[in-house]
Amino acid sequence: MTTARPLVFAHRGGADALPEHTLAAYLRALDDGADGVECDVRLTRDGGLVCVHDRRLDRTSNGTGLVSGKTLAELDALDFASWHPAAAAEELLAEHVRLLTLERLLGALRDRGRPVRLLVETKHPSRYGAEVERRLVELLRRYGLAEPEPDDPVRVTVMSFAALALRRIRRLAPAVPTVYLMRIVPPGVARGHLPFGSRIAGPGIALVRSRPQVVSALRAAGHQTYVWTVNEEPDLDLVLAQRPDGIISDRPKFVLDRLEKV
Ligand code: G3P
Ligand code: CA
Repeated sequence: MTTARPLVFAHRGGADALPEHTLAAYLRALDDGADGVECDVRLTRDGGLVCVHDRRLDRTSNGTGLVSGKTLAELDALDFASWHPAAAAEELLAEHVRLLTLERLLGALRDRGRPVRLLVETKHPSRYGAEVERRLVELLRRYGLAEPEPDDPVRVTVMSFAALALRRIRRLAPAVPTVYLMRIVPPGVARGHLPFGSRIAGPGIALVRSRPQVVSALRAAGHQTYVWTVNEEPDLDLVLAQRPDGIISDRPKFVLDRLEKV
């Protein structure tokens, strides 16, 4: 079903305005009116689920090495904000820029006082067996979100480029919706089949640029579509013309402002 206007999701919490994957970024995006947020999750050495995009720590913290090689306590001692220009320009609460675990993010979203959508992208699906998905579903169960109800304070959708990860979610939590992320359109998807009961197709903006009618084609094949990562005016024009169900952006406010004018 196509919504009246696309849902707007803050990619990595809205990675443009504030340091990605910090609670400060997520809260700002929601204050700005985003319908939901996108979060990449990785596993720590001691089995914690943390919101970090890269395999390594080097780009987004003052640490170095693999996220999966550190414990939660080691990661918690790092600075995940100073690398971003906004960290110096704005007074951000220390509590809002430390390591964000998925559990902290869920807790903060649950306390927002209005329903919020959370897109969780599981990274490294083959490296640790089913551990990421298993721990994710365990957390969702603890928060009562594994069997979604319309009045849940947080509506969780899991995303992956890997059919393997979608299959695990389907097995562990069949009622949790999933997004199949794609850089190309596999033939089966074009014919109307997403892997393992996925409900939503997630084409990247590079795919949309190279096949400008791809969102319409995916809709015609019966899929909802969430497009990532839409940050620039020409891309937004291209995507909006095809009425996607969701737009994932590092600049959610820019997208929301634009939607108000439509
Ligand atoms: O929303 C999907 C998008 O986040 C996938 O790419 O590399 O930013 O995780 P990436
Ligand atoms: Ca992602």
